[in-house]
Amino acid sequence: MAIKTIGVVGAGQMGSGIAQVAATSNFHVIMSDISEALVERGKSHISKSLDRMVQKEKINPSQKKEVMARIEGTIDLGKMKGADFVIEAATENEGLKLSIFRELDGICSKEIVLSSNTSSISITKIGSATTRPEKVIGMHFMNPVPAMELVEIIKGLATSDETFRTTKGLAEELGKTPVEANDFPGFISNRILMPMINEAIYALFEGVGDPEAIDKVMKLGMNHPMGPLALADLIGLDTVLAILQVLQEGLGDPKYRPCPLLKKYVDAGYLGRKTGRGFFNYGET
Ligand code: CAA
Repeated sequence: MAIKTIGVVGAGQMGSGIAQVAATSNFHVIMSDISEALVERGKSHISKSLDRMVQKEKINPSQKKEVMARIEGTIDLGKMKGADFVIEAATENEGLKLSIFRELDGICSKEIVLSSNTSSISITKIGSATTRPEKVIGMHFMNPVPAMELVEIIKGLATSDETFRTTKGLAEELGKTPVEANDFPGFISNRILMPMINEAIYALFEGVGDPEAIDKVMKLGMNHPMGPLALADLIGLDTVLAILQVLQEGLGDPKYRPCPLLKKYVDAGYLGRKTGRGFFNYGET
């Protein structure tokens, strides 16, 4: 079945980025969230990101208009009935994702693939919440989605080869490079990235260096494009904590224990860029 319309569940940082990339690649997009305000915020995020591309002369203003026109925002998950492929990008919470997949399974036609942008939760478990586990797969984009080349593709225990091929082909149509990972907590990307970020937070917690020094060491000494603390702020500290908890519970090794300072920041509502404050300050959001 040819994919013309992509459903994106969630209009946050990741959902809006995925919607933007899909619309830029000429797909019609249905982007849903739980309130009009969140849908509008997602659209405004996309508009600003496209403005950057106009400024850099990667697209012209009329192309921006066409991309925006291909994105239909909604608060009605039932609209996903019109999608030929769904990418779920809601908050990184297992209970929430399972309930969204149960609903999507009832709404969407039985032939279509339901994928999740989860950064760590078991695809096998998400698949088992539906009556089509062979059509459930992980499609893990990186933040900021328009700028990052990788999409990690994760097969659950029951995911079929056909679903894998469809998803890999779609990732390529979106201009991304797919890489296959097995269904383990955190897959490949976060199995490696999160312990590094957690260790940077421990280094701050224990007074090894201040945030500027820690990030500068990794940028100038290891040629990372961003330091680990700025990257944590970009990802969202609540998401970083949720992923570390999945690693800790799923792998049972104390080396994944989230740093107490990370928990404290999340309790304080310092979630990084999205709240204007994390390990660094970002002013108004
Ligand atoms: N929308 C569109 N394009 C964007 C963008 C956005 N929001 N943000 C950056 N870009 C593009 C720019 O247009 C630019 O493109 P060109 O080189 O083609 O002109 C390119 O990205 C670089 O941007 P800038 O020059 O403005 O800024 P920079 O050089 O400082 O790069 C960055 C910014 C791409 C974010 C870079 O700092 C970087 O790669 N950081 C690391 C990001 C990373 O590690 N992401 C993965 C996080 S982990 C994750 O997402 C998974 C998870 O499960 C937690």
